[in-house]
Amino acid sequence: MVDLRHIGKAYKVGDTNIEALRDISFSIGRGEYVAIMGPSGSGKSTILHILGILDTATSGTYLFEKYDITTLSDREQARIRNRHFGFIFQRFNLFSELSAMENVMLPMGYAGLSKPQRKERAGELLVEVGLENRMNHRPTMLSGGEQQRVAIARALSNGPDVILADEPTGNLSTDAGEEIIQLLETFHRRGVTIVMVTHNPSQAARTERIIQIKDGRLHSDTRQGGSR
Ligand SMILES: Nc1ncnc2c1ncn2[C@@H]1O[C@H](COP(=O)(O)OP(=O)(O)O)[C@@H](O)[C@H]1O
Ligand SMILES: [Mg+2]
Repeated sequence: MVDLRHIGKAYKVGDTNIEALRDISFSIGRGEYVAIMGPSGSGKSTILHILGILDTATSGTYLFEKYDITTLSDREQARIRNRHFGFIFQRFNLFSELSAMENVMLPMGYAGLSKPQRKERAGELLVEVGLENRMNHRPTMLSGGEQQRVAIARALSNGPDVILADEPTGNLSTDAGEEIIQLLETFHRRGVTIVMVTHNPSQAARTERIIQIKDGRLHSDTRQGGSR
């Protein structure tokens, strides 16, 4: 479903070129649960951004299903991003002025649903992540774990095929982080493809596959039992 071929990413900062990724190639099949690991600055977030079409590679080819992402217009890229990908970030990235419900409804605007339909779907998702009593709370009224659960509901709101999670438990206590991992495992069992950046070896051990990045290069790619 996802096929990266010889992907490179260079950032130009002043006169220097920072090569964040060099010759990265790997494929991910539908329904896989993959951990991406590696030292800070090794290029993990850059890979997730390219996978989710938040950013584009400077060399190589990215195939997503039948699309060659590298050749598409911005508009076509945005359509594929909104339809197929959901994102979860370490810092939650919720809108502080909006309630949990409104945060989850926001991305559904693209899917052509009416407002009552969006409300109903957002409510169902918030119940699924255990926030039935927090729907009208703003992010500041919620704990970190609750905020991340809102972010998961938001990531699922368009019915994505792939969830991209960048250190989703990095700002959470062990217990709150465990709840987030269990939620991701639940959606994985339902068939959602999950790619998660993590520094936590025990979380990585529960996935089906660990991709290690070092200095912008693929260091190893190991399949394992996983939790399913
Ligand atoms: N917008 C940017 N401009 C310049 N350099 C960047 C930018 N984003 C990331 N980098 C650089 O690219 C490299 C990889 O960054 P990143 O993917 O964030 O690593 P990781 O997520 O593994 O910590 C780092 O050297 C980082 O400083
Ligand atoms: Mg990062």
